[in-house]
Amino acid sequence: MQILWQYIVGVLTLCVVLLFWIREQRARRRFAGLSSYPLLPFIGNIHQIFGDSKALFRHMAHVSEVCENNESGMFVTWIGHCPLLIVQDPEDVRTITNAFVEKPYIYSFGKIWLGDGLVTAPVSTWKQNIRKLAGTFSSSVVDGYLGVFNAQAKKLVDNLLMEVGQEPFDIMQKYLAYTTLEAICQTALGVSKISENIVTTEYYVAFNRCLELLVNRGMNAFVHPDFIYKLTPKYQEIKKCVRVLHNVSDTVMRKRKHEREKLRKEEMKEKKTGDTEGPKLKAFLDILLDLREIDPSLTEQQIKSEVDTIIVGGQETVASTMFYTLLVLGCKTRVQEKVYAEMKSIFGDSTRPVTKEDLSEMKYLEAVINETLRMYPPLPGVLRYADRDLQIKSFTIPKGTICAINGWGAGRSASVWGKDSALYRPERWLEDQPPGNTASFLAFSYGRRACIGKKYAMAILKTVISQCVRELEFISEADNMQFKVDIGLRPTCGHLIQVRRRESLQK
Ligand code: HEM
Ligand SMILES: *[C@@H]1O[C@H](CO)[C@@H](O)[C@H](O)[C@H]1NC(C)=O
Ligand SMILES: *[C@@H]1O[C@H](CO)[C@@H](O)[C@H](O)[C@H]1NC(C)=O
Ligand SMILES: *[C@@H]1O[C@H](CO)[C@@H](O)[C@H](O)[C@H]1NC(C)=O
Repeated sequence: MQILWQYIVGVLTLCVVLLFWIREQRARRRFAGLSSYPLLPFIGNIHQIFGDSKALFRHMAHVSEVCENNESGMFVTWIGHCPLLIVQDPEDVRTITNAFVEKPYIYSFGKIWLGDGLVTAPVSTWKQNIRKLAGTFSSSVVDGYLGVFNAQAKKLVDNLLMEVGQEPFDIMQKYLAYTTLEAICQTALGVSKISENIVTTEYYVAFNRCLELLVNRGMNAFVHPDFIYKLTPKYQEIKKCVRVLHNVSDTVMRKRKHEREKLRKEEMKEKKTGDTEGPKLKAFLDILLDLREIDPSLTEQQIKSEVDTIIVGGQETVASTMFYTLLVLGCKTRVQEKVYAEMKSIFGDSTRPVTKEDLSEMKYLEAVINETLRMYPPLPGVLRYADRDLQIKSFTIPKGTICAINGWGAGRSASVWGKDSALYRPERWLEDQPPGNTASFLAFSYGRRACIGKKYAMAILKTVISQCVRELEFISEADNMQFKVDIGLRPTCGHLIQVRRRESLQK
């Protein structure tokens, strides 16, 4: 009797395994023509692509090369039964980023912190909110932030001046991360009335730890299922960090609402007329609270999620662009001197703050920043979820595929950028023929659901770098730099830089 049962269970198990296997074979056949790694049954390539951020970078670089040299221009890896299609051809990128706006499940790990903010929201929620938010970082709003950007830039320069004559130091950990987090918190949440600093040490530590925990989860397929993750101590830890972060946005939001009500009452009494001239700082939070008054469907919870999302979306991306730019300046004297010459032509010997007119004159610096973003995209790849079949140039993407848009590969592709694509050459952005193809500059992603903070990013980057370059000279070593990818593109050996005071200012 027992033997019979064992036999039945055995046969059934075998049937189930066989069924899965057949289904898997059928799914895999649809990708038959594409390059890929050798596959294991059931786990696919999980063992190769997860776990190690250095290995992930090596895979990314390898795949980029294969895509560059193979006529299909694509690569497929398998997360178990789920295909991950890596794409970098500009035409395909354009088609995919416009057709698919849904994100794969991996983004949902961020919901514990960012709720249904723009980055992590499902398409249905995103569609409602992007209409309201797409225009929030317009030129006039960003101009209003220049005061904050200049103040942070000055603080940074003062700090860097104290490093003159010292050993190389980790400029990212020590300064840039803090500069950008503070700037973005001040502009996202509003500073005018909030006297104390938003970014306390506790907030800073929680912020970084939270990102780290999210990255670790993303890189470890075994804790992807929620029910498993919730059993791990990491889940308790991330909850604790998020509590600190949410407490800050909660507190600030309560204060702002209170202040707004008080202000409204005063305005009613005084019937003030004549707005002050010039752009004023309008915090992102205030923009949303204004919106809420005409559109109550924007809930308080949603506003908080959007504010938290902005802070996360703008922090490491901007800090890391600042870092790579200063790094490149530090080892390319010719580029650094050209940027300095441009600053000299705009500011003379003055160290005065940057104005919006100055920003539009910084053409060479803009080309430098673009070139940095092309070669060192802070987010080297983004993901989309195929919620239906889609025909691209030479292939039909089956529904259920995760599409990875390879910004690293596209930015360095010789077939798009020319033979000198591996060379850092800002001048390419200033030549008559616009370089490459707009869909091969993917630092801000592309198509629908691309970055909404481009103008913001350019303004803060130009302001801070301008102030730095006018007073300081950077020295660095960037040849043979090794990278890792843990969501962001990071150097493996830290962020070492040295600074010297500018000769002309050594009075
Ligand atoms: C150099 C700096 C920046 C880079 C390289 C960058 C890059 C990106 C990329 C690649 C995406 C797409 C993410 C995805 O599809 O998963 C994105 C989205 C986004 N970024 Fe940025 N970003 C930068 C600065 C900023 C700033 C300063 C802000 C806000 C002030 C911001 C706000 C956002 C938001 C809200 C989204 C989500 C858009 C949506 O899903 O509709 N970013 N960014
Ligand atoms: C492209 O990749 C496919 C599948 O790996 C391979 O059969 C084909 O020969 C490759 N083509 C080139 C030009 O390398
Ligand atoms: C939240 O923040 C306030 C002040 O900013 C602090 O007094 C309070 O202890 C914090 N609460 C938690 C749970 O961290
Ligand atoms: C930098 O890139 C952006 C695209 O994001 C483009 O609009 C701009 O013109 C570029 N700047 C220069 C100086 O080429």
